[in-house]
Amino acid sequence: MIKTRSFKAKDGRMVILRSVRWDDLDDLIEFIDSLADEGADILRTERVTRDEEADWLGRRLARIDKGELIDAVAEVDGRVVANSEVQKRTGMMSHIGDFGIGIKSGYRGIGIGTEIMKTLIEESRSAGLRILVLDHFATNKPARALYEKMGFKEEGRIPKGICKNGKYIDLIRMVREL
Ligand SMILES: CC(C)(COP(=O)(O)OP(=O)(O)OC[C@H]1O[C@@H](n2cnc3c(N)ncnc32)[C@H](O)[C@@H]1OP(=O)(O)O)[C@@H](O)C(=O)NCCC(=O)NCCS
Repeated sequence: MIKTRSFKAKDGRMVILRSVRWDDLDDLIEFIDSLADEGADILRTERVTRDEEADWLGRRLARIDKGELIDAVAEVDGRVVANSEVQKRTGMMSHIGDFGIGIKSGYRGIGIGTEIMKTLIEESRSAGLRILVLDHFATNKPARALYEKMGFKEEGRIPKGICKNGKYIDLIRMVREL
């Protein structure tokens, strides 16, 4: 579990960064459904059922407990508005972590992504990881700007790696050494 901390966003709202809890289930359903509904540049396209999300959260809490996954959610006014993770690889790649992040519409562009990444980079380093890896859709300009700002470099690309609503988009891989 990460150490809980808080900061003031650029719009003045207070944001708490902490690990996820079982009682976040309803907020997480609303969060992931909102990203699916808006057609965000993420792999998931479908809304979740309560059972699916409960299974997912149960597995996630177990993996956090075992140190296999480092996570951070952002809470504003008592509601979870962002989720993020670093999944540790295993065996000869156990020094690598796969990074992912999503922030609810209405809470973007106010520095939450930046603070989450700073926190997860620090926590990943403390957990002994040496390299972080992430993928983003070539169309996702805000994500690209955040990742470049945080020191990630493009190291690969799958041309037409994503097919979104019948349109092909390149999938870009970025890497950062810790
Ligand atoms: C991508 C995402 C995580 C960025 O998080 P964020 O909290 O909005 O980012 P921040 O406010 O910390 O901004 C970081 C930098 O990105 C840039 N940025 C922010 N919003 C931007 C926008 N709409 N267009 C272009 N650049 C933008 C700024 O340069 C900013 O740096 P600055 O603070 O020094 O000006 C967020 O937009 C999001 O969750 N989007 C939907 C889901 C998603 O795309 N997830 C990532 C999948 S790879």
